[in-house]
Amino acid sequence: MSKNVIFCFSGTGNCLDIAKNIAGGLGDTDIVMMRRAPAVTDVRFCERVGFVFPCHAGRMPLGMEESLRMLSVKPNPYTFGVVSYAGYPGIGLAQLNDIIPLDYWTGISHQSACIWLMPHTLMFPPLTPEKAQKRSAELAAQVAADVKVFKKADKAPSAPLFNRIEASAWPKIAPKKAEDFSVTGKCIGCGQCARLCPKGNIRMIGGRPEFGTDCIQCLSCLQFCPRRAINIGAASETRERWHNPNVTADELNEKLIHID
Ligand SMILES: Cc1cc2nc3c(=O)[nH]c(=O)nc-3n(C[C@H](O)[C@H](O)[C@H](O)COP(=O)(O)O)c2cc1C
Repeated sequence: MSKNVIFCFSGTGNCLDIAKNIAGGLGDTDIVMMRRAPAVTDVRFCERVGFVFPCHAGRMPLGMEESLRMLSVKPNPYTFGVVSYAGYPGIGLAQLNDIIPLDYWTGISHQSACIWLMPHTLMFPPLTPEKAQKRSAELAAQVAADVKVFKKADKAPSAPLFNRIEASAWPKIAPKKAEDFSVTGKCIGCGQCARLCPKGNIRMIGGRPEFGTDCIQCLSCLQFCPRRAINIGAASETRERWHNPNVTADELNEKLIHID
Protein backbone atom coordinates (compact mmCIF):
# COMPACT_ATOMS: atom_id res chain seq x y z
CA MET A 1 0.00 0.00 0.00
CA SER A 2 1.27 3.47 -0.88
CA LYS A 3 1.87 6.25 1.63
CA ASN A 4 -1.22 8.13 0.41
CA VAL A 5 -4.59 6.83 -0.81
CA ILE A 6 -7.31 8.73 -2.66
CA PHE A 7 -10.75 7.13 -3.01
CA CYS A 8 -12.33 8.46 -6.18
CA PHE A 9 -15.75 8.33 -7.77
CA SER A 10 -15.95 9.75 -11.29
CA GLY A 11 -18.61 9.61 -13.99
CA THR A 12 -17.19 11.76 -16.76
CA GLY A 13 -13.57 11.88 -15.63
CA ASN A 14 -13.32 15.28 -13.91
CA CYS A 15 -12.86 13.78 -10.45
CA LEU A 16 -10.35 11.20 -11.66
CA ASP A 17 -8.42 13.99 -13.37
CA ILE A 18 -8.49 15.99 -10.11
CA ALA A 19 -7.42 12.90 -8.11
CA LYS A 20 -4.54 12.27 -10.52
CA ASN A 21 -3.44 15.90 -10.24
CA ILE A 22 -3.52 15.79 -6.44
CA ALA A 23 -1.70 12.43 -6.46
CA GLY A 24 0.94 13.86 -8.81
CA GLY A 25 1.54 16.71 -6.35
CA LEU A 26 1.79 14.34 -3.37
CA GLY A 27 3.72 11.44 -4.96
CA ASP A 28 3.45 7.78 -3.89
CA THR A 29 -0.37 7.66 -4.03
CA ASP A 30 -2.85 4.90 -4.83
CA ILE A 31 -6.12 6.07 -6.36
CA VAL A 32 -8.82 3.55 -5.44
CA MET A 33 -11.87 3.80 -7.68
CA MET A 34 -15.27 3.89 -5.99
CA ARG A 35 -17.57 3.42 -8.98
CA ARG A 36 -17.97 -0.12 -7.71
CA ALA A 37 -17.16 -1.55 -4.25
CA PRO A 38 -13.60 -0.37 -3.41
CA ALA A 39 -10.78 -2.91 -3.88
CA VAL A 40 -8.98 -1.58 -0.78
CA THR A 41 -10.83 -1.00 2.48
CA ASP A 42 -8.22 -0.83 5.27
CA VAL A 43 -6.16 2.37 5.05
CA ARG A 44 -5.56 2.93 8.77
CA PHE A 45 -1.79 2.89 8.33
CA CYS A 46 -1.52 5.34 5.44
CA GLU A 47 -0.25 8.88 5.97
CA ARG A 48 -2.98 10.72 4.04
CA VAL A 49 -6.39 9.45 2.92
CA GLY A 50 -8.47 11.55 0.52
CA PHE A 51 -11.83 11.39 -1.21
CA VAL A 52 -12.63 13.02 -4.55
CA PHE A 53 -16.17 12.78 -5.90
CA PRO A 54 -18.79 14.80 -7.83
CA CYS A 55 -21.89 16.54 -6.57
CA HIS A 56 -24.93 14.71 -7.97
CA ALA A 57 -28.23 16.48 -7.32
CA GLY A 58 -26.85 18.23 -4.27
CA ARG A 59 -25.28 15.11 -2.69
CA MET A 60 -22.62 12.45 -3.13
CA PRO A 61 -23.28 9.89 -5.90
CA LEU A 62 -25.75 7.16 -5.07
CA GLY A 63 -24.08 4.07 -3.61
CA MET A 64 -21.02 5.95 -2.38
CA GLU A 65 -22.18 6.13 1.23
CA GLU A 66 -22.42 2.33 1.37
CA SER A 67 -18.85 2.03 0.03
CA LEU A 68 -17.58 4.59 2.55
CA ARG A 69 -19.05 2.59 5.41
CA MET A 70 -16.90 -0.37 4.35
CA LEU A 71 -13.67 1.57 4.98
CA SER A 72 -11.40 1.50 8.01
CA VAL A 73 -9.66 4.88 8.09
CA LYS A 74 -9.33 6.64 11.44
CA PRO A 75 -7.70 7.30 13.87
CA ASN A 76 -4.26 7.50 12.26
CA PRO A 77 -4.27 9.10 8.79
CA TYR A 78 -4.83 12.74 7.91
CA THR A 79 -8.08 12.89 5.91
CA PHE A 80 -9.26 15.24 3.17
CA GLY A 81 -12.32 15.53 0.92
CA VAL A 82 -12.77 17.28 -2.43
CA VAL A 83 -16.12 17.67 -4.16
CA SER A 84 -16.31 18.61 -7.82
CA TYR A 85 -19.43 20.46 -8.87
CA ALA A 86 -20.85 22.66 -11.64
CA GLY A 87 -22.62 25.43 -9.73
CA TYR A 88 -22.92 24.49 -6.04
CA PRO A 89 -21.13 21.86 -3.93
CA GLY A 90 -24.19 20.44 -2.11
CA ILE A 91 -24.06 18.31 1.03
CA GLY A 92 -21.64 15.60 -0.18
CA LEU A 93 -18.75 16.75 2.01
CA ALA A 94 -21.03 16.91 5.05
CA GLN A 95 -22.27 13.38 4.27
CA LEU A 96 -18.64 12.22 4.03
CA ASN A 97 -17.64 14.06 7.21
CA ASP A 98 -20.44 12.27 9.09
CA ILE A 99 -19.00 8.88 8.12
CA ILE A 100 -15.28 9.70 8.04
CA PRO A 101 -14.33 12.89 9.93
CA LEU A 102 -12.31 15.17 7.66
CA ASP A 103 -9.25 17.21 8.59
CA TYR A 104 -9.47 19.28 5.41
CA TRP A 105 -12.04 19.76 2.66
CA THR A 106 -12.73 21.94 -0.34
CA GLY A 107 -14.72 22.17 -3.58
CA ILE A 108 -13.52 22.40 -7.16
CA SER A 109 -15.93 23.80 -9.72
CA HIS A 110 -15.95 22.12 -13.15
CA GLN A 111 -19.13 22.62 -15.10
CA SER A 112 -18.23 20.84 -18.32
CA ALA A 113 -20.01 17.60 -17.42
CA CYS A 114 -23.34 19.49 -17.77
CA ILE A 115 -22.73 20.39 -21.40
CA TRP A 116 -25.22 17.73 -22.54
CA LEU A 117 -27.92 19.72 -20.72
CA MET A 118 -27.06 23.34 -21.46
CA PRO A 119 -24.38 25.27 -23.33
CA HIS A 120 -21.42 26.46 -21.30
CA THR A 121 -22.06 30.05 -22.14
CA LEU A 122 -25.33 29.85 -20.19
CA MET A 123 -23.60 28.63 -17.04
CA PHE A 124 -22.15 30.87 -14.38
CA PRO A 125 -19.42 31.89 -14.78
CA PRO A 126 -19.62 31.38 -18.57
CA LEU A 127 -16.41 29.43 -19.22
CA THR A 128 -15.21 27.49 -22.24
CA PRO A 129 -14.43 23.82 -21.48
CA GLU A 130 -10.72 24.66 -21.83
CA LYS A 131 -10.96 27.41 -19.19
CA ALA A 132 -13.02 25.20 -16.85
CA GLN A 133 -10.37 22.50 -17.25
CA LYS A 134 -7.50 24.92 -16.56
CA ARG A 135 -9.22 26.27 -13.44
CA SER A 136 -9.83 22.75 -12.15
CA ALA A 137 -6.15 21.79 -12.64
CA GLU A 138 -4.97 24.92 -10.82
CA LEU A 139 -7.29 24.27 -7.87
CA ALA A 140 -6.19 20.62 -7.68
CA ALA A 141 -2.56 21.76 -7.52
CA GLN A 142 -3.51 24.02 -4.60
CA VAL A 143 -5.23 21.10 -2.83
CA ALA A 144 -2.08 19.00 -3.26
CA ALA A 145 0.03 21.80 -1.76
CA ASP A 146 -2.37 22.15 1.21
CA VAL A 147 -2.62 18.41 1.82
CA LYS A 148 1.14 18.01 1.60
CA VAL A 149 1.56 20.25 4.66
CA PHE A 150 -1.46 18.69 6.44
CA LYS A 151 -3.52 21.90 6.34
CA LYS A 152 -6.62 21.79 8.58
CA ALA A 153 -10.09 23.17 7.85
CA ASP A 154 -11.33 25.58 10.51
CA LYS A 155 -14.93 24.33 10.38
CA ALA A 156 -16.99 21.32 9.34
CA PRO A 157 -18.61 21.27 5.87
CA SER A 158 -22.17 22.59 5.83
CA ALA A 159 -25.39 20.95 4.63
CA PRO A 160 -27.77 23.69 3.36
CA LEU A 161 -31.48 22.94 3.74
CA PHE A 162 -32.27 23.30 0.02
CA ASN A 163 -29.56 20.77 -0.88
CA ARG A 164 -30.77 18.39 1.83
CA ILE A 165 -34.25 18.44 0.32
CA GLU A 166 -32.91 18.01 -3.22
CA ALA A 167 -30.56 15.23 -2.08
CA SER A 168 -33.31 13.28 -0.34
CA ALA A 169 -35.39 13.18 -3.55
CA TRP A 170 -32.55 11.94 -5.78
CA PRO A 171 -32.71 8.19 -4.97
CA LYS A 172 -36.26 8.16 -6.37
CA ILE A 173 -35.58 10.50 -9.31
CA ALA A 174 -32.40 8.86 -10.69
CA PRO A 175 -33.96 5.50 -11.69
CA LYS A 176 -36.96 7.32 -13.20
CA LYS A 177 -34.66 9.45 -15.34
CA ALA A 178 -33.07 6.24 -16.63
CA GLU A 179 -36.33 5.53 -18.44
CA ASP A 180 -35.46 8.49 -20.72
CA PHE A 181 -32.32 6.90 -22.24
CA SER A 182 -32.54 6.28 -25.97
CA VAL A 183 -30.09 5.14 -28.66
CA THR A 184 -29.91 6.53 -32.21
CA GLY A 185 -29.00 4.79 -35.47
CA LYS A 186 -25.42 6.05 -35.05
CA CYS A 187 -24.78 3.24 -32.52
CA ILE A 188 -22.16 0.75 -33.79
CA GLY A 189 -22.76 -1.76 -30.99
CA CYS A 190 -19.23 -1.39 -29.55
CA GLY A 191 -20.53 -2.10 -26.03
CA GLN A 192 -18.46 0.62 -24.35
CA CYS A 193 -21.55 1.90 -22.52
CA ALA A 194 -22.24 -1.56 -21.08
CA ARG A 195 -18.61 -2.02 -20.00
CA LEU A 196 -18.58 1.38 -18.30
CA CYS A 197 -21.88 1.15 -16.43
CA PRO A 198 -20.94 0.76 -12.74
CA LYS A 199 -24.31 -0.84 -11.98
CA GLY A 200 -24.37 -3.37 -14.84
CA ASN A 201 -27.58 -1.63 -15.89
CA ILE A 202 -26.87 -1.73 -19.65
CA ARG A 203 -27.17 -5.00 -21.56
CA MET A 204 -26.18 -5.45 -25.19
CA ILE A 205 -29.06 -7.16 -26.94
CA GLY A 206 -28.83 -7.76 -30.69
CA GLY A 207 -25.81 -5.42 -30.83
CA ARG A 208 -27.69 -2.54 -29.20
CA PRO A 209 -27.67 -1.29 -25.60
CA GLU A 210 -30.78 -1.73 -23.51
CA PHE A 211 -31.13 0.28 -20.31
CA GLY A 212 -32.68 -0.88 -17.05
CA THR A 213 -33.61 1.36 -14.15
CA ASP A 214 -30.77 0.48 -11.74
CA CYS A 215 -29.07 3.74 -12.69
CA ILE A 216 -27.16 6.26 -10.58
CA GLN A 217 -26.98 8.82 -13.43
CA CYS A 218 -23.18 8.97 -13.57
CA LEU A 219 -23.68 9.48 -17.34
CA SER A 220 -20.45 7.68 -18.29
CA CYS A 221 -22.46 5.85 -20.98
CA LEU A 222 -23.72 9.05 -22.60
CA GLN A 223 -20.53 11.06 -22.33
CA PHE A 224 -18.05 8.37 -23.42
CA CYS A 225 -20.13 6.95 -26.30
CA PRO A 226 -17.71 7.21 -29.27
CA ARG A 227 -20.62 7.92 -31.66
CA ARG A 228 -22.67 10.26 -29.45
CA ALA A 229 -25.48 7.79 -30.05
CA ILE A 230 -26.95 7.87 -26.52
CA ASN A 231 -29.46 10.53 -25.45
CA ILE A 232 -31.33 11.16 -22.25
CA GLY A 233 -34.58 12.95 -23.02
CA ALA A 234 -34.87 15.50 -25.79
CA ALA A 235 -32.50 18.05 -24.22
CA SER A 236 -29.34 16.11 -25.03
CA GLU A 237 -30.14 15.57 -28.73
CA THR A 238 -28.79 18.93 -29.84
CA ARG A 239 -26.14 19.34 -27.15
CA GLU A 240 -22.45 18.54 -27.12
CA ARG A 241 -20.80 15.87 -25.01
CA TRP A 242 -17.95 16.08 -22.51
CA HIS A 243 -15.57 13.68 -20.94
CA ASN A 244 -12.39 14.81 -19.31
CA PRO A 245 -9.58 14.88 -21.90
CA ASN A 246 -7.04 13.47 -19.41
CA VAL A 247 -9.09 10.37 -18.53
CA THR A 248 -9.87 7.31 -20.66
CA ALA A 249 -12.86 5.00 -20.38
CA ASP A 250 -10.48 2.15 -19.50
CA GLU A 251 -9.06 4.15 -16.58
CA LEU A 252 -12.55 4.72 -15.19
CA ASN A 253 -12.95 0.96 -15.05
CA GLU A 254 -9.65 0.41 -13.19
CA LYS A 255 -9.82 -0.70 -9.57
CA LEU A 256 -6.60 1.02 -8.54
CA ILE A 257 -4.28 3.50 -10.24
CA HIS A 258 -0.83 4.07 -8.74
CA ILE A 259 0.90 7.45 -9.17
CA ASP A 260 4.60 7.65 -8.24
C1 LIG B 1 -26.55 13.43 -12.47
C2 LIG B 1 -25.72 14.65 -12.20
C3 LIG B 1 -26.14 15.54 -11.24
C4 LIG B 1 -25.39 16.68 -10.99
N1 LIG B 1 -25.82 17.52 -10.02
C5 LIG B 1 -25.11 18.63 -9.73
C6 LIG B 1 -25.54 19.52 -8.70
O1 LIG B 1 -26.53 19.28 -8.01
N2 LIG B 1 -24.81 20.63 -8.49
C7 LIG B 1 -23.71 20.93 -9.22
O2 LIG B 1 -23.11 21.96 -9.00
N3 LIG B 1 -23.24 20.07 -10.18
C8 LIG B 1 -23.93 18.95 -10.46
N4 LIG B 1 -23.48 18.08 -11.43
C9 LIG B 1 -22.21 18.37 -12.13
C10 LIG B 1 -21.03 17.53 -11.62
O3 LIG B 1 -20.99 17.49 -10.22
C11 LIG B 1 -19.68 18.07 -12.11
O4 LIG B 1 -19.72 18.37 -13.47
C12 LIG B 1 -18.52 17.15 -11.82
O5 LIG B 1 -17.31 17.79 -12.24
C13 LIG B 1 -18.61 15.80 -12.54
O6 LIG B 1 -17.54 14.98 -12.11
P1 LIG B 1 -17.13 13.66 -12.89
O7 LIG B 1 -16.73 14.10 -14.29
O8 LIG B 1 -15.97 13.10 -12.16
O9 LIG B 1 -18.31 12.76 -12.92
C14 LIG B 1 -24.19 16.94 -11.71
C15 LIG B 1 -23.78 16.02 -12.67
C16 LIG B 1 -24.53 14.88 -12.92
C17 LIG B 1 -24.05 13.89 -13.95
